[in-house]
Amino acid sequence: MSTQVVNEASKRRTFAIISHPDAGKTTLTEKFLLYAGAITSGGAVKAHEGRRSATSDWMDMEQKRGISITSTALNFPYRDHELNLLDTPGHRDFSEDTYRVLSAVDAVVMVLDAAKGIEPQTLKLFEVCRSRNLPVITFLNKLDRPGIEPLELLDMIEAQIGLRPTPATWPVGSFGDLRGVIDRRTDIFTRFTRTARGSQIAPEEDVPAARAATEEGKEWEKAAEETALLSAMEADVDMPSFLAGESTPVFAGSALTNFGVRHLLDAIVDLAPAPTPRLDVNNEPRPLDSPVSAFVFKVQANMDKNHRDRIAFARICSGQFDRGMVMTCERTGKPFATKYASTVFGAERTTIDEAFPGDVVGLVNATGLNIGDSLFDETGPRVKFPPIPSFAPEVFATARPVDTGKSKQFRKGLAQLNEEGVVQVLKDPDWGDASPVLAAVGQLQFDVFANRLEFEFNAPIEISPAPYQAIRVTDKESADKLREKPGVRILARFSGDMVALFENKYALQRIEQNEPELTLEPIVAG
Ligand code: G4P
Repeated sequence: MSTQVVNEASKRRTFAIISHPDAGKTTLTEKFLLYAGAITSGGAVKAHEGRRSATSDWMDMEQKRGISITSTALNFPYRDHELNLLDTPGHRDFSEDTYRVLSAVDAVVMVLDAAKGIEPQTLKLFEVCRSRNLPVITFLNKLDRPGIEPLELLDMIEAQIGLRPTPATWPVGSFGDLRGVIDRRTDIFTRFTRTARGSQIAPEEDVPAARAATEEGKEWEKAAEETALLSAMEADVDMPSFLAGESTPVFAGSALTNFGVRHLLDAIVDLAPAPTPRLDVNNEPRPLDSPVSAFVFKVQANMDKNHRDRIAFARICSGQFDRGMVMTCERTGKPFATKYASTVFGAERTTIDEAFPGDVVGLVNATGLNIGDSLFDETGPRVKFPPIPSFAPEVFATARPVDTGKSKQFRKGLAQLNEEGVVQVLKDPDWGDASPVLAAVGQLQFDVFANRLEFEFNAPIEISPAPYQAIRVTDKESADKLREKPGVRILARFSGDMVALFENKYALQRIEQNEPELTLEPIVAG
């Protein structure tokens, strides 16, 4: 059994795609499925219209947006491996969930729009990858149309995110006329043929260099010069620095026309690491073949209008998970039955009977499970994995129950949703629970919060933006002095810790400079 677990784990690749909205994440996801044979035609899984709608009903949003949002984890076989692609919702849906997903993957594909370079959202997500030393594979997308010169894009990667780019493939063909890619590791030039709207796998032909030089003329010459330059710079794929999160293999192509997609998908199997033993809170690795263990990285409620249930998504860290087994939640010590373990694909749920390290299981009806919980099989040693980092809030709002008769339900909801990490709830010590301030990484978290309070706790609320720009953790002594200052508000977390909210970032900077004795700790990831 144990060698089987290790063998199965070695076939898993668990990864996420990070990108700025519109860089092509959805298109690329779909093309991965096409190349892996999980769908037969591109265009099947996109729900563009819905995906772009700005409704505030979480569940309807989920359903309308289709696969890019709903599928927390897509599992599909490719080349005798099992690929688990975890979704990082894009910026319109930006929330702490996006960050948390990155705690459950072993590698990341960073998609850049070749016309835009590195955009803010990518940078933000990349910072999280850096803090976890996640290996990053870069895809230069949209090379089928006018954009920034690929060599310049490499400079941007190096200068703006500090990763050493090591191109694995290189484009042949000028803007608007992409012909194919050279694999610098094998010197094979693959020429692609477009299919109508890229809905089918692009036919490809491997062309030897001599023939390519005649047939592709100037385009070939340019690419050959550039790859010679890259070789002179020794910008070659380097596994140790890639795995350490210091260099990034770069792939070139176009998700829309499918050019270069296969090379990228192959790289996920060939370069991205398989699951390794996960470190517990004491920095002890949990061997892959020890009894089953997992941690919850996402909890989602109300996914299905008919059920209004709650699914906890857990990544398996060790052992073989068998549906129906009883797992114990480390935090509560309570057993948890896994009879309804499933994978979620679009609106569909499929029962999952077994899972191995790297896989994600959706635990249905998981009341009692919170984000960050460690789960284990009681027959083996207990384990507690490190908590999932929380992130510095960037947006703030106030919440008020619409119906004052519902204040009990309101209070209960606040406590639970705060504990789950849906938003951070901050209370005014003088006002109690009456009008708390909510703090979050993204606006969507407020929508989810309001939706869940209404439907799960029967306490509809009204949310209004609050005029704060920054938050710091403080202590009682400093809080007394800060309270006197204009534009500063002192609030408390449920834990009792005090925080100071500032209406103006610059006022905060002035206070930090002029009164260094005051306790003002940034909330950092970790
Ligand atoms: P996202 O999930 O990262 O937000 O991006 P998405 O895949 O939705 O792509 C955003 C837009 O970019 C889409 O166009 C998509 O077709 C286009 N796109 C993606 N990859 C490529 C590529 O390699 N080349 C080119 N030229 N375009 C690409 P749209 O007009 O917004 O939608 P649609 O009507 O084409 O579907």
